[in-house]
Amino acid sequence: MTVSKELSSISQRLQVRHLLKDTRFQTESYGADVVQGLTQTPKTLPPRYFYDDWGSQLFEQICELPEYYVTRTETAILEKYAGEIAQVTGVCEIVELGSGSSTKTRLILDAYQAAGLPLYYLPIDVSAGILESSAKQLLVDYPTLRVQALAGTYEMALSQLGDAVLANRMICFLGSTLGNLNPQECDEFLSQITAALQLGEYFLLGVDLQKPKDILDAAYNDRQGVTAAFNLNMLTHVNRLYGGNFDVSQFTHWAFYNEDEQQIEMHLRSDRPQSIHFDALNLSVNFETDETIRTEISRKFNLEKIQQELKAKGLIPQHVWTDEQSWFGLILCQLQLS
Ligand code: AVJ
Repeated sequence: MTVSKELSSISQRLQVRHLLKDTRFQTESYGADVVQGLTQTPKTLPPRYFYDDWGSQLFEQICELPEYYVTRTETAILEKYAGEIAQVTGVCEIVELGSGSSTKTRLILDAYQAAGLPLYYLPIDVSAGILESSAKQLLVDYPTLRVQALAGTYEMALSQLGDAVLANRMICFLGSTLGNLNPQECDEFLSQITAALQLGEYFLLGVDLQKPKDILDAAYNDRQGVTAAFNLNMLTHVNRLYGGNFDVSQFTHWAFYNEDEQQIEMHLRSDRPQSIHFDALNLSVNFETDETIRTEISRKFNLEKIQQELKAKGLIPQHVWTDEQSWFGLILCQLQLS
């Protein structure tokens, strides 16, 4: 009896919207990013195709790897300063782009709860599976929490946010996912953030900072091969979505730090000449031996420079926190008139 009572109260506090299935977002652009990426030179695929349900699980495994300092470092910063964030914002709903397992979000929710503030959470993720399962677990663990989950891309979700229910709102973009965007995409993305916020609302941004090359190379070439599996899983995901016939055993994971661009690059290298066909896209793509698909850039930021870029968008940094080694930065901005 207790169980059914609990379950009903969870469903009352949970709302999930599937934007990826929404016909308004499924126009002729279906698969256009894949066609575009695989027909250009050099070939690319967008990093969001890492994150089917299995890819999201592999990413969770990456976060636990000894070489992958990123999650651990950001988590330590949040453990130390989430209370300050709650103090600065006061009553505030929490929007999270790329919420995944919401593990780090718990630190933020804990801080708001400890400050006696109401808990309202809007997670956004392209992986509906991980979105729903982590939302449900959060609702069990936080009895007063309300969750409005959006399954979709950042662009879809930001355009669908609507007005805040609570007095204020904070959009969180953690884990340095901003690093997946090239400088121009980054600029456009920050404009979308500004457009999605009202004056006085907050943007909490986590960015991975520049550091010695050997540390970076190791973080994206772990000894257990989890990052390789994560990278290769993109081919399986794209096969499933678009009727492709990639043979994962014919490609090799390749990641390195590009010092000129200050970014990690992840590629998949073709082990032999091969032709790949996508039934759903009416597309055939030829690979030469050693030709690569770039699947991700992961830019490493300069804390001063990124703050200037934020300011230029009206996102005024109020607080900046880092770890002792300055490996990772957490920036709390507020939208203000410039
Ligand atoms: C989630 C995009 C921040 O760039 O470090 C981890 C993804 N790729 N290992 C990153 C990733 C390879 C990660 N981000």
